[in-house]
Amino acid sequence: PGPPCRFFGLPELRAMGPDYLGFLQAQQRQHGDVVYMRLAQYRDYSFFHPEQVRELLVAAHEGLIRWERGIECMASAHGHSVLIAEGEAWARKRRMLQPGFAPKRVAAFATLMVQAGEEALAAWPQQAQADMPFEHAMTQLTMDVILRTLFSSHAGPQARAAEQALRTLSVIAYREMFWPASAPLWAPWKAPKRRALKVLNQLIEGQIAARRAHIAAGGADKPDLLDMLLKLQDENGQPLSDSELRDECMTTFLAGHETSAGALTWWGWCMATHPEAAAQAAAEVDAQLGGRKPGVEDIAQLPFLGQTIKEALRLYPPAPALLTRKSTKAMDIAGWHLPAGSMLRITPYLMHRDARWFPAPEAFRPERFGPAAAEIPRGAYLPFGAGPRVCLGQHFALTEITLIAALLLQRYRLVPVPGSEPPRPTLNITLRPHQPLRLRLIKRA
Ligand code: HEM
Repeated sequence: PGPPCRFFGLPELRAMGPDYLGFLQAQQRQHGDVVYMRLAQYRDYSFFHPEQVRELLVAAHEGLIRWERGIECMASAHGHSVLIAEGEAWARKRRMLQPGFAPKRVAAFATLMVQAGEEALAAWPQQAQADMPFEHAMTQLTMDVILRTLFSSHAGPQARAAEQALRTLSVIAYREMFWPASAPLWAPWKAPKRRALKVLNQLIEGQIAARRAHIAAGGADKPDLLDMLLKLQDENGQPLSDSELRDECMTTFLAGHETSAGALTWWGWCMATHPEAAAQAAAEVDAQLGGRKPGVEDIAQLPFLGQTIKEALRLYPPAPALLTRKSTKAMDIAGWHLPAGSMLRITPYLMHRDARWFPAPEAFRPERFGPAAAEIPRGAYLPFGAGPRVCLGQHFALTEITLIAALLLQRYRLVPVPGSEPPRPTLNITLRPHQPLRLRLIKRA
């Protein structure tokens, strides 16, 4: 049998668009771990239990594809990259790319990450205290990191235009997901999307063309991800085609910095509002580094700092909702029968706030990820997803976030700007504050 069914229609669809997380939370509260909604032949299931989630994402992975409408809305930027592809095309790309994102390879980028962080912090106001557009600063910094590690390049005016374009695209893609189909790109009202895509394409294609010219002129290898992508070969010795190379660069660029920027922004907010945890993390950083630059080898020696990052990712997962799949064949999950063609939703934001696995779920408690972490069931904590399609860049992201967080704590104490409104988490594919977050930075002695 299938789980109990609720028929839904326009009112529910309307409620879902503006407040997707609130809508699903209300459904979960009312109906429990499996919520099944149906509109004619369209079947929509949400799963909230860690065991069901692992059953889906890990065990039943073969019978799933990503939710097609969501992918359609992202594909105008990402093309057919590993984020978008399915079946054998995806498996081939994933096999090729995986070694380039392994912890050992990522470690080689730590110096570039720290350099980007130090240069950014050196350009910040030098007064004893200053109110900073913190979210904006984190977005610029993570963009600089991805430009250095992907292209051996720096954030210039083109990158600032790309940041704006990326924001525009995220908002448009998220809105489009709640419509059954998109108008063609040439439609007159799609001018903002066309302009944003043009800016991003110019940046990515310009970088690839410059590298090809560099290689043709006999230039030396560069220690970056583009160099890795250019040298990749599949099992038959085939390199990535020009369009594949463009698509992978675009996905690495887009997936690789907006999420990390969101993670650092929310971590900054957690530190500003939990001075004791921040002081403990800063003391750990001081004891380990004694004022010198952090390196990749220090990360394992900063366990409490790591816990604060994990806890911030729990409360504010940068990819909070769109772990959506479609079943390509009939399957049984959690003892329920799901027909082929069902829409399946997994919502890390809500799973991370489930009091069964995270007591006092709204509280910021880094100690959850100390020795007590063994009690968190597998599948309950999913900031990077799970199963074969788990985030390709998770080691990259955690290395980057930890190094930048250590640099920040070495220099500053973060506090909320007095009188400012606390940020409300807002979903636009990624989870961002409802208005750009500002924080007060107080220089440490
Ligand atoms: C996939 C989260 C950073 C590249 C994913 C998925 C999640 C995620 C949840 C799985 C989506 C699904 O299963 O449907 C995050 C978070 C990040 C982060 C929270 C930062 C805090 C990065 C970085 C990169 C990256 C830095 C690259 C440099 C990718 C790629 C995929 C992916 C390529 C698709 C993998 C596939 O489909 O095989 N990410 N990500 N991500 N992420 Fe990340």
